[in-house]
Amino acid sequence: MQIDGSTTLVGVFGHPIAHTASPAMHNAAFAALEMNWAYLAFNVDPANLRSALHGARDMVLRGVNLTIPHKILALDIVDEVDADARKLGAVNTVSIENGKLRGFNTDGYGIAKAIREEFNFGFKGKRVLVLGAGGAGRAIAVKAALDGALRVYVANRTASKVEPIVAEIAKTKSECRPVNLAVDALAAVVPDVDLMINATSVGLKEGETLGLPASLFTPQLFVYDTIYRPAETKLLKTAADAGARTANGLSMLLHQGIKSFELWTGCKAPLAVMRRALRTAVYGEKPA
Ligand code: ATR
Repeated sequence: MQIDGSTTLVGVFGHPIAHTASPAMHNAAFAALEMNWAYLAFNVDPANLRSALHGARDMVLRGVNLTIPHKILALDIVDEVDADARKLGAVNTVSIENGKLRGFNTDGYGIAKAIREEFNFGFKGKRVLVLGAGGAGRAIAVKAALDGALRVYVANRTASKVEPIVAEIAKTKSECRPVNLAVDALAAVVPDVDLMINATSVGLKEGETLGLPASLFTPQLFVYDTIYRPAETKLLKTAADAGARTANGLSMLLHQGIKSFELWTGCKAPLAVMRRALRTAVYGEKPA
């Protein structure tokens, strides 16, 4: 990569940010397409998100991704929020054009594309159980409803966080049912579920677990964990051992990145290059 006076800059703001794999994915794409662009990671304290975004605008960056803990805060900072990002309740991609900050959400696209790629179906007509109602859980549950899921169960430790999701899904044709994040409550609904998606942060730390027993899983169930590091969380291992079809969150990370790349550059993203760069950055796989 050659950085010079006309390099276009994009990046990601997070806190912490050191372990992000997004720079590897985007810079590999810029290199493959011989674009004079660079993607950097910035450790931005949430108290400084507003000034950092205004700084990005004033320094004429082309856009930024936002990750934990900025996705919800940004809704009140950007100049315009795209209709989908408003519904999904979070901004993970900011596009900066003509001095304006425009907020988008590519996580919804990312999860839908990931489920299609991993399991070969879409949300339409499916019964989906989402574990978690933070930024990721809300975006996934609402996206499932927008795409025509028949029923969306949402289970969260803090029950009050499910309420805005129920309200948003009420505007769609899908039905939303809150569930307790407790084994017996989950066991009662799982027979009515096709796809379970973990959008809690439980499992990020090796060995950490929601404690869901093998008896909850069947070979008919598809289980997606938005966590990709470790590659196989306790949840995915328990589910796979019980015969369920499983996949981890690397595909969601990839596809949200593809969509962000295309929003900023207007170019078709090089999917295979970006996937390989991610796998190398996250799992240390040898580049081809
Ligand atoms: P993200 O943007 O990744 O969704 P977040 O908004 O901080 O991050 O959400 C984290 C999710 O993990 C929430 O659903 C959170 O539950 P609470 O709303 O009750 O906080 C869930 N979570 C985190 N630690 C948890 C734990 N030990 N047990 C159960 N759920 C947990």
